[in-house]
Amino acid sequence: MSDSLIQKYNIPGPRYTSYPTVPFWDEAGISLEDWKKTTLRAFNESNEKEGISLYIHLPFCENLCTFCGCHKRITKRHDVEEPYITTVLKEWDLYCNLLPQKPNIKEIHLGGGTPTFFSPQKLRELIEGILAKANRCTDYEFSFEAHPNNTTKEHLQVLFDLGFRRNSFGVQDYDLKVQQTINRIQPFENVERTTNQSREIGYTSVSHDLVFGLPFQTKESIISTIEKTKLLKPDRIAFYSYAHVPWIKGVGQRGYDENDLPKEIEKRILYETGKKLLSELGYVEIGMDHFALVTDNMHEAMVKKTLHRNFMGYTAGKTKLMIGLGMSSISDSWYSFAQNVKTVEEYQEIVNKGEFPIFRGHLLNNEDLIIREHILNIMCHFETSWKDDRLKFPELNECIERLQEMQKDGLVEFTENGIKVPEKARPFVRNICMAFDLRLIRNKPTTRIFSMTI
Ligand SMILES: C[S@@+](CC[C@H](N)C(=O)[O-])C[C@H]1O[C@@H](n2cnc3c(N)ncnc32)[C@H](O)[C@@H]1O
Ligand code: SF4
Repeated sequence: MSDSLIQKYNIPGPRYTSYPTVPFWDEAGISLEDWKKTTLRAFNESNEKEGISLYIHLPFCENLCTFCGCHKRITKRHDVEEPYITTVLKEWDLYCNLLPQKPNIKEIHLGGGTPTFFSPQKLRELIEGILAKANRCTDYEFSFEAHPNNTTKEHLQVLFDLGFRRNSFGVQDYDLKVQQTINRIQPFENVERTTNQSREIGYTSVSHDLVFGLPFQTKESIISTIEKTKLLKPDRIAFYSYAHVPWIKGVGQRGYDENDLPKEIEKRILYETGKKLLSELGYVEIGMDHFALVTDNMHEAMVKKTLHRNFMGYTAGKTKLMIGLGMSSISDSWYSFAQNVKTVEEYQEIVNKGEFPIFRGHLLNNEDLIIREHILNIMCHFETSWKDDRLKFPELNECIERLQEMQKDGLVEFTENGIKVPEKARPFVRNICMAFDLRLIRNKPTTRIFSMTI
């Protein structure tokens, strides 16, 4: 892609882990009644067939990595573990009391923050507490995020014994200057140890998170990071574009400024360099940001077109109901979204009063549901179609006009009643989704709320 196209399309834009995206949820939010109603609807439509997913947010980290955009709480005090786990289990009780029958769990994902901040014993209590009130689907998938610096063999063994078979380790970049700038010193040996131990124990999919666009990253540092990654051959690699969002309260992005970041064309070169090397190593690009070996089930999901995208990013299977537990978690009932309060204190206080800790949400209308399908199709399969009347909507013609403009730039190809994103235009996939994003188009933001698309 030419530099001028990169300049033209590198604008602030959503990452589309949901539609509508969080900043465009209804200001009025969602009533508790509507949230319960839609949760029950999604549960009844799906529990027997596909099961439900649980996302559990474990927010604590011992040290602040200054590039991090996640919802986390930095502390070295481990006495926070006990009350937090107790509260998550109480929140789970609220849902189990709402549901008409025992849920069948298809997926559990422990995200953070740093789940391995918690002791193996506490993680065991958490998962056993969850499973005491649920059944597992036969093809269940449990996964967790881990920091290589604080993941012990015991963590890996305990979670394996509970049924976890996938994990992902934050790596970001192996270059010392980059690591110093983002306040995250993490030797290769730690990643090597946790990756090898995972495999010895029997994990079937180990993933590494790499980030491009970090301060002081260069083409050479990306090459060297991927050379090191090659030695460990993770089954999946998340190759995230660094999201620079210092205006968002509480993320703590500091210690460097915009001048230290690779500029747009340089950043694109970092991505292209990484992508080329990963392809040479046998990794296939899956959706946006992700690469997998052909032996990993995410690759199979892409081939079979069962890939799905939600707040956790890409997943190999889809469930209609994803319940998010823990502070800041977002739940998705397909017909609605709901987000939990964003501080540990508030979260614990509300749940301990026996109430759902939801502070905002969105009830999807018919148009939202149709646009949501198009955006999911584009993000997961790089194509969508409005051949089926069910997927037509009143402003489709205006949307087609925007896509025709992109067609002139080679970003989309029209098929019979649909579009396809050609291989070379994949970095622009967020821009293509923006052509469908009626809520964004109708309410152009006046301040920066999204990171750049490229
Ligand atoms: C919750 S962390 C992973 C687990 C653990 N806390 C760790 O850091 O190793 C999730 C991942 O999000 C990614 N991430 C965090 N902040 C980001 C940002 N500003 N831009 C892009 N990716 C980011 C990083 O790759 C990070 O590994
Ligand atoms: S990158 Fe991971 S360890 Fe670092 S602050 Fe973010 S969540 Fe915590």
